[in-house]
Amino acid sequence: MRAICLMIVALLGACQGTITARERGHDLMTDVEASNGRANVFECADCHQVAPDWETDRIFPGYSLVDSAYRESFWGGYERTLLDAMGFCRLVFMRGTPFDENDEDARAILEYLLSLSETDPAPALPLTVTLNIDADRIPRGDPTEGGALYDRACKHCHGVPGGHTPDRFRGDAVDMPGDEAGWAKLYDDPDFAGIPYGLIVIEKVRHGRFFGISGIMPLFSTEALSDEELGAILAYLEI
Ligand code: HEC
Ligand code: HEC
Repeated sequence: MRAICLMIVALLGACQGTITARERGHDLMTDVEASNGRANVFECADCHQVAPDWETDRIFPGYSLVDSAYRESFWGGYERTLLDAMGFCRLVFMRGTPFDENDEDARAILEYLLSLSETDPAPALPLTVTLNIDADRIPRGDPTEGGALYDRACKHCHGVPGGHTPDRFRGDAVDMPGDEAGWAKLYDDPDFAGIPYGLIVIEKVRHGRFFGISGIMPLFSTEALSDEELGAILAYLEI
């Protein structure tokens, strides 16, 4: 009898010590360890809403991962499966390799995302990427509105303009200039000679690291941030 009791106690102990795959997936949403890239600075939660009860008014470059699992395609149709969609993020933003379906972390994240998803099938979401950057198409808006939008869309990674970069992104995200002199200093570089600074910023926001620009910044589609909203942010940044 005593032996059986001890066995039960040992089993209970083991259960308390382990977490389910779903819980592990949940934890990985806010953990740089979700990438196998050692130089990774990002969490999934830096770019996506990752829980239904997460109260935030941030503007994310990526779509919400709530109810995402059964979408008919991902990344504007470019990726066919959830595994490939999140693997692409790990490759391009998180300095890692795409997820393998046998990878335990990948399974945990899939399990977690499935637990957040009811709509099956769910429609694919649009992703409109501005290919040709044309500064004239983005009239500068209201700087006060722009300040509020900057706080929601950019501050998380770039900090306060003219201030300091948040610790986690030091060395990666640049200190954002907040006036003309700051921009002139940042782009005092032969590579940028003759290019209006505003155009460089628009291009970075619209293309992120893609289209030969490099880096790890995500792009903002026009669904994530409209041209009007971007125009207001530019006015706030005095560019
Ligand atoms: C640096 C920002 C960034 C990080 C970090 C990031 N993503 Fe993304 N992700 C994006 C952007 C931008 C898109 C393209 C817009 C979209 O389709 O949501 C995207 C697309 C996706 C999509 C497709 C959504 C859809 O319906 O089109 C999934 C799923 C996804 N990411 C999962 C993840 C997971 C899981 C992680 C963490 C392992 C992660 N992402 C990390 C920015 C990021
Ligand atoms: C998820 C984090 C993230 C968000 C959100 C983000 N950025 Fe960035 N951004 C970065 C990182 C990291 C870099 C530096 C690496 C690179 O160039 O990709 C960068 C670089 C830049 C640069 C280039 C600076 C240079 O060295 O030339 C500009 C301009 C910029 N971001 C503007 C913005 C604006 C405006 C917003 C809001 C609309 C924004 N970013 C939102 C992460 C982010």
